[in-house]
Amino acid sequence: MIIKNIGKLAGIVPEGVLRKEGAAQGETGVLENAWLSIEDGRIAAFGPMSSCPSERSEESLDAEGGMIMPGFCDSHTHVVYAGSRDGEFLDKINGLSYEEIAARGGGILNSSDLLNRTSEEQLYTQSMSRVREMMDKGTVAMEIKSGYGLCPEGELKMLRVIDRIRHSVPACVKSTFLGAHAIGRGYSHEDYVQMVIGLIPEAARLADFVDVFCDEGFFTVEDTERILRAAEHLLTPKIHANELAVSGGVQVGVKHGALSVDHLERTTSAEIEALKGSRTMPTMLPGSSFFLGLPYGRAKDFIKAGLGVALASDYNPGSSPCGDMRFVMAQGCIKMRLTPVEAFNAVTLNSAYAMGISAEYGSITLGKKAALLLTHPGWDLTRLAYQYQTPFIRQVLLP
Ligand code: NIG
Ligand code: FE
Repeated sequence: MIIKNIGKLAGIVPEGVLRKEGAAQGETGVLENAWLSIEDGRIAAFGPMSSCPSERSEESLDAEGGMIMPGFCDSHTHVVYAGSRDGEFLDKINGLSYEEIAARGGGILNSSDLLNRTSEEQLYTQSMSRVREMMDKGTVAMEIKSGYGLCPEGELKMLRVIDRIRHSVPACVKSTFLGAHAIGRGYSHEDYVQMVIGLIPEAARLADFVDVFCDEGFFTVEDTERILRAAEHLLTPKIHANELAVSGGVQVGVKHGALSVDHLERTTSAEIEALKGSRTMPTMLPGSSFFLGLPYGRAKDFIKAGLGVALASDYNPGSSPCGDMRFVMAQGCIKMRLTPVEAFNAVTLNSAYAMGISAEYGSITLGKKAALLLTHPGWDLTRLAYQYQTPFIRQVLLP
């Protein structure tokens, strides 16, 4: 298939660039008035309209001046959950903090009770509606975590549902075992950590990554260290760190070769130093800063220090009930002062890197999956973040 009359072909990156760091995060290739061809679901060729191959037998699509860009990559979500936590919304509005709601038995434990009462079939149906909602908004690749089962049966049920979703949609789905999300009911802290460690070999048959909520009131650096050691050679780490406190989660993640450390609402220069020269992608989740009233991550300082930054939605019932990656990108600009191109790279290539798929997704590069968005005429990367609620997608193209 060939797409012609593309107003802007945005997000062109040479082969072999797997992430954008420092000043490079502010740059991406844009070709005006272009064409692009797709073969076997991959980007086969592109160029200016002046060099457009003449009609052959292939199917052609007229972009009519619309922009073609890589679809959004969302490297941190919890979209497999049961029901909702709208019952806690009023408590939150009335001033209770995330920690206070959790301490009352609300929060993650509330979602866990609901999940363990919900059938696997129902859980799949409810979760699929969120996955479809994300895809309609332009997400072509997503990571989904367990972490609301909090017992062996519940966690494995979640991982099976994620696996079923993976086989049901054309979007790319990566799976993370987040057994260490909270202490499950009826367990002591130590018994629970041991349960998580014991479950790793079975979880590793279904999941790609392991995650630990390494934060005040949840899991310590020592717990995290034990879990990551047990998962070595089985699951690559991605860590929840520094959401509620300066937790040490960044350092322990870097030490164990984590692909990403996520949240980072509270960081000091020590975290920036620890990340320098590592393979770990700092990932910030502005949707949870917005919803919980937390500080926004210091994305700009990370980039100034030469690091790359990814942004993800954190779509979940407790701290970010929204999976709209364009809203994430807009918050990156408006609240974190990223330029539109820095924010764009954060929600495409760098977020793909944070789930280990940036050789295949996240940019316009020869040979990558043709997981693309075609916009209505007249759109560009700045307007995407600026006019963040006006419908912009004409078509989501997925291999
Ligand atoms: O990333 N911080 C921990 N986990 C989720 C929230 C989960 C929940 O509240 O249900 C997060 O924000
Ligand atoms: Fe999260």
